[in-house]
Amino acid sequence: MFKRELPFLNRMTNSNRNSVTRVWDEKCDKGWAQLMNLEHEIAVNYLLAQTGIEIPNNASVIDVGCANGWVLRKLVDEYKIAYGLGLDLSNKMIEEAREKSSEYKMLDFKVDGWEDIVKYSLQHGLFDVILGVESIYFYGSVVDNIRNAFNSLKDGGYLGLNIECYNENPDSFKFDERVGATLLHYTIQEYLPMINDAGFKIENIRSFKCHYPLEREFESWLNTYGTLIIVAKK
Ligand SMILES: C[S@@+](CC[C@H](N)C(=O)[O-])C[C@H]1O[C@@H](n2cnc3c(N)ncnc32)[C@H](O)[C@@H]1O
Repeated sequence: MFKRELPFLNRMTNSNRNSVTRVWDEKCDKGWAQLMNLEHEIAVNYLLAQTGIEIPNNASVIDVGCANGWVLRKLVDEYKIAYGLGLDLSNKMIEEAREKSSEYKMLDFKVDGWEDIVKYSLQHGLFDVILGVESIYFYGSVVDNIRNAFNSLKDGGYLGLNIECYNENPDSFKFDERVGATLLHYTIQEYLPMINDAGFKIENIRSFKCHYPLEREFESWLNTYGTLIIVAKK
């Protein structure tokens, strides 16, 4: 299929795979996995229940950037998925995910990232759903991440993305300072062709204001502009 060249693809970040691992290992030691569960759950609940994303019973799901695996445990408990694969570049996050999920025999956790999902779809078979909750914009190529998701999904499968760091959310640049990296902040209008050109049909897109009872001023991006939520179907 002809792919047009998107003019913004050369956006750069100073992160690489090793620096993402180092930063998130440190954050894991500081208890961030649990904190992110609290901070992201309202928007994840919206993604799962209000956007039209379909997660059938017995679904197979990849959660890329899974941290301690809380989204997959929620999907087992509430959606009865049959199999979940959590990938994260942080060794410590994956250790914590395995510890917390010891009772969940249908969940696997691996130290790997967006660029590795095709490998798992070849081993396991194509997946029903791929989720990326605040993980697609840390380094590398967002376009390639989206194409990898397309190639790893069954026909009719869904990609669900939650994205706090996007260009229309100026407060989200404070998060770059917080993690000490330049992240890939795209505009909403830049995300759309990346997803369409990969072959997806966009089913839902919105900025979801969490109205989270924030104690910290620097998290204003959650309430003021909100989380960009995109649902696309193969
Ligand atoms: C902001 S946290 C979000 C964690 C989790 N999804 C949540 O909502 O609690 C970002 C996580 O994504 C991981 N990550 C960042 N870039 C990644 C990539 N390219 N592939 C896989 N994981 C990645 C980080 O190690 C970190 O654990």
